[in-house]
Amino acid sequence: MNSKIETLKQKLELARIGGGEARIQRQHDNKKLTARERIDYFLDEGTFEEIGALVTHRTKDFGMENQKFYGDGVVTGFGTVNGRLTYVFAQDFTVFGGSLSETHAEKICKVMDLAVKVGAPIVGLNDSGGARIQEGVRSLGGYADIFYRNVQASGVIPQLSAIMGPCAGGAVYSPAMTDFTIMVENTSYMFVTGPNVVKTVTNENVTSEELGGASVHATKSGVAHVTEANDVACLESLKRLLSYLPQSNRETPVKLAFTPGDEIREVLEDIVPDNPNKPYDMHQVIEGIIDEGSFYEIQKDYAENIIVGFARLGGQSVGIVANQPMFLAGVLGVKSSKKGARFVRFCDAFNIPLLVLEDVPGFLPGTDQEWNGIITNGAKLLYAFSEATVPRVTVITRKAYGGAYDVMNSKHIGADMNFAWPTAEIAVMGAKGAAEIIFKKDIQSAKDPEAEWKAKEAEYAELFANPYSAAERGFIDEVIEPKYTRRKLIKAFAMLQNKEVNRPKRKHGNIPL
Ligand code: COA
Repeated sequence: MNSKIETLKQKLELARIGGGEARIQRQHDNKKLTARERIDYFLDEGTFEEIGALVTHRTKDFGMENQKFYGDGVVTGFGTVNGRLTYVFAQDFTVFGGSLSETHAEKICKVMDLAVKVGAPIVGLNDSGGARIQEGVRSLGGYADIFYRNVQASGVIPQLSAIMGPCAGGAVYSPAMTDFTIMVENTSYMFVTGPNVVKTVTNENVTSEELGGASVHATKSGVAHVTEANDVACLESLKRLLSYLPQSNRETPVKLAFTPGDEIREVLEDIVPDNPNKPYDMHQVIEGIIDEGSFYEIQKDYAENIIVGFARLGGQSVGIVANQPMFLAGVLGVKSSKKGARFVRFCDAFNIPLLVLEDVPGFLPGTDQEWNGIITNGAKLLYAFSEATVPRVTVITRKAYGGAYDVMNSKHIGADMNFAWPTAEIAVMGAKGAAEIIFKKDIQSAKDPEAEWKAKEAEYAELFANPYSAAERGFIDEVIEPKYTRRKLIKAFAMLQNKEVNRPKRKHGNIPL
């Protein structure tokens, strides 16, 4: 018996060291933790239970039968994060560069299947040279098996991806189909075709970092939802993100204990400037409303004219979508509409109530926007809000102009409670532009056109540059003093807690993609 236990121990020890000490050292030299170190840091201490530690590949080509490593380049299993069950897989770059073989894929699929059956999040820590080249199409089949599961799990359990090394070729499409992707700065990259292929096909000279590093995906493509400075910060970030989410779509997020007392926030009174053309930072409004320090921003450096992220309000997890007057005056454009729409759909799928903070002067004009499909892309946000059945509350802080007023969670498309600050201007457009169009003849024929224009602008502003016309029609439920916003919102979301909406049966809608 003792010798048999010894054999087991030896095998498990071999599994533990993966590709061996030299490769582990290389991983460390490259400022990366190993797969096991990452899992240990990520999960609550001592909670990791491994599945498939002794799996090996089945390839005999290219002398591979003589090169076997227990675990086959991926560590899989489950444990807890802040006490909550979480499934995890971590690719082990020390074994064949973390490349994906048929058996490596089977291990990932196994934990994904368990996560869906049980109803708990799955987190993938990616660090891989892509398809196991020695296995050819079998590894491609493995990818597809994972992709298929990503899609089946979408909207059922939260799926989070961390990119902590290479992620190239077909490998990118699994993270792309998960809910959130966090990239580590300087040590990770993602691209469909690498610098060499790019050079051959387009003659562009580009480094891996320039092509698909964390900063590129955080600012230009929007592929990275969050970036972090190193492995530890990335794992901390994943834990924080999970704290806002429910275990599955069958549950609601955990509500934290909340001690009432600071619901009135005077700081909110002075944020919106008197001059409607002056920008202000919507982050100040967010911070002024939410539980202190609870904002976790998503895609913060991408399409900055819209802000999205999670926060807590009276202990409750909420998803925030807010126009940002600091960037492009907060207009809706192609990228910001897509960014907002995807976030809204995530929150709706996982029972996270939505708070919208609105200051939007309309859609971004121009050929660039029109030719890139602002029509279809703006429709995404409109569609996403309209189909959402979670509690939905809007606060209009200033501008709510034109079609963008409709889109930004208006009452007409199913929002439950809509508030406006006294500074709100709910109109088809700004008073200056409106006067120029509807009083064109009066202005042209006036003795002093400039003075006439000013007078007409004032007339239009008097009528519409306020929240009262909308409030009279019930399009706004209440006009509130900014300092009471937090209190109003906590009460509104508590009131909406048991909201239920039944939609007609259908296979799925056809969101404009
Ligand atoms: N299949 C099999 N083995 C692979 C692999 C793959 N796709 N990618 C890397 N490896 C192996 C290497 O042979 C090497 O093995 P060793 O430890 O026995 O020497 C080990 O993983 C580390 O790779 P290495 O190239 O030394 O690491 P690097 O940090 O210098 O470069 C990559 C990393 C990912 C840029 C590089 O390995 C690469 O280009 N891999 C191929 C990517 C690819 O084309 N994948 C297939 C298409 S999806």
